[in-house]
Amino acid sequence: MTLWSGRFDVASDPAAFDFGVSFGFDRALFEDDVTGSIAWAEALGAAGVVSDEDTRAMVSGLKAILEEGRYDSSYVSGPDEDIHSFVERKLVERIGDAGRRLHTGRSRNEQVSLDLRLYLRRRIPALQGGVAALVAACADQAERAGSALMPAYTHLRRAQPVLVAHYFLCHAAALRRDHARLATAAEEADALTLGSGAVAGTSYPVDTTRIARALGFSRIVGNSMDASSDRDFVASFLYATSLAMVHLSRVAEDLVIFTGEEHGFFDLADASATGSSMMPQKKNPDPLELVRGKAGRAIGRLTGWLVTMKGLPSGYNKDLQEDKEAVFDAEATLAASVAAAHAVVSRLTLNAERTERAASGLLLATDVADYLVSRGMPFRRAHEVVGAMVRRLLAEGRDFSTLTLEQWREASDMFGADAPRAATALASVQARRTAQSTNPEAVRKALDECRAWLASANPQSQ
Ligand code: ARG
Repeated sequence: MTLWSGRFDVASDPAAFDFGVSFGFDRALFEDDVTGSIAWAEALGAAGVVSDEDTRAMVSGLKAILEEGRYDSSYVSGPDEDIHSFVERKLVERIGDAGRRLHTGRSRNEQVSLDLRLYLRRRIPALQGGVAALVAACADQAERAGSALMPAYTHLRRAQPVLVAHYFLCHAAALRRDHARLATAAEEADALTLGSGAVAGTSYPVDTTRIARALGFSRIVGNSMDASSDRDFVASFLYATSLAMVHLSRVAEDLVIFTGEEHGFFDLADASATGSSMMPQKKNPDPLELVRGKAGRAIGRLTGWLVTMKGLPSGYNKDLQEDKEAVFDAEATLAASVAAAHAVVSRLTLNAERTERAASGLLLATDVADYLVSRGMPFRRAHEVVGAMVRRLLAEGRDFSTLTLEQWREASDMFGADAPRAATALASVQARRTAQSTNPEAVRKALDECRAWLASANPQSQ
């Protein structure tokens, strides 16, 4: 029995019917489907479409169904085509004919969009909580790193010294944008579709403003045709999860490199690493690699969904059913990846001696050039002078720290006795001036600002 079998005089071919069954995955919308149905039943009652008695029966029946499904998830199963059919069947089983009035003036087209909007609004905060926890782990690492220095890279070549704290706050900055982007996806989902009917609107005088208020929506969709086919909020969610996965992947890639033998900037905790079945010495960063790998999967969900949407004629099309597995998979992928990244980042230990060694040497060349600029030399000229010094030092296998005053002055008579002091990693970071720079005071403020953000974004983490 389906919601539509009255129209047909033969049973469906299982190869066609089973192919369209979505109950296996849309059971995740159980709670949202019932919540939406309760609001609809109340709206029918308030509009006088259904008697008060039947409305009461529907509402209490639906509440009982919700309780039963929450208590025992195996209850949400059966031969039904989808979650909507399941809930209606259970309601009729429970209250009889009154349950047959629930779908008056309503279509599964608006219902399924409503359910997914409710679902995302309900679930996105948990993803944001995971992202905020990772931001907190970055902030903790920044705190712990204190004044330790490391090289920042461009083109994966040593570029300039930075505070290790600045490095961790760099990842925190990207993750905070992900947090905001998830909020934007939730806002986009925040529109009531009920009242749209199948495509043209409903002919019953339901008060959509009241339904919206009851369900906590801040607005109502503007066009019923658009409502039945609009899944932009799904695309936005998949984009938000994809970009968050891209950022996690970049954290992962950095740490795969920085925890390897060649860099040795950080040690992976045993608890967040894996071994090799053959090579006893190996300590592998599997969780990081898997986070990096799963970014491809999240991006695939976004790409796949955009391709599904692009060919659709206006109004509802069954293709839209593909939205749910994309959403559930992207959600699970991000939730698990952010937890794995947190496990790794929160347990990293810094090898400050190695990072500081890597932060000294020829990467101080820009600071040496800035020294000459401070003495009045045009920057382009200073670049040339220091470039020649670097060439010579490289040939001799040494760096600025080994130059005698005479040798400094050979390169330019603008170098004074204080030149060697300008060419240290610490002087380099202290010389930075702007609020977004790696200047130790600026980084301290940035860390405080990050903590303040965490307190407002994720109060329970404090
Ligand atoms: N399972 C369907 C979906 O996910 C529900 C809507 C079905 N509507 C319809 N006209 N067949 O989109």
